[in-house]
Amino acid sequence: MDSGTLSVAVLISGTGSNLKAIIDAQKSGRLNVDIARVISNKADAGGLVFAREAGIPCSVIPSAGAPSREAHDAAISRCLDETDPDLVVLAGYMRILGGEMVARFRGKIINLHPSLLPKYPGLDTYRKALDAGDAEHGSSMHFVTEGLDDGPLISQAKIPVLPGDDPESLARRLGPVEHRLVVATVELFTRRKVEMSPDGVWVDGELSAGPMMLNEDDQLV
Ligand code: GRF
Repeated sequence: MDSGTLSVAVLISGTGSNLKAIIDAQKSGRLNVDIARVISNKADAGGLVFAREAGIPCSVIPSAGAPSREAHDAAISRCLDETDPDLVVLAGYMRILGGEMVARFRGKIINLHPSLLPKYPGLDTYRKALDAGDAEHGSSMHFVTEGLDDGPLISQAKIPVLPGDDPESLARRLGPVEHRLVVATVELFTRRKVEMSPDGVWVDGELSAGPMMLNEDDQLV
């Protein structure tokens, strides 16, 4: 690994298709990252299989049965401290991080969320977009702060809502777009200095006017 390689930890809870997209992009040479560790709060998360197949160190830190959220967060923090990554990617990590942990890793944790934030934080985003009659849906990547799905927006990707769509069809179409978004966003961190401030997101010392959008060439513009 050369010294310019971005060290990344990925937190998952489930299928891990976005983790797999990062692994594949690293293998193909598109992403100059070292996936230093995958952490799951569930022992049966499918994404652990992808990680193990790729030879990535994995830690399972079960949330079920943890004495408290703080205790679970503290265990994750210790594991991240040992890994000391440049960037922590929450890719389908279905837990809210406590304030202490967020403060500790401020500006280093990013989350993938399946809506065009600030619309629809939380769950059931596909149903919410359909109920609102939205013409577009999409995914966002943002810095993690104390609020739920609330931190400064880094990037977004959109898809049209089509006549006859239901939550399942929307989710099916958004999936591959999210994979492209997560890879392009991690790539952004490998090439440019991306920083969070109370004003928003700074890229190479310039304040972004809004989230960067994924284009058809998988670039963020
Ligand atoms: C994605 O839709 C992501 O936006 C949300 O959880 C899902 C994770 O999917 N936060 P996967 O586990 O990466 O397949």
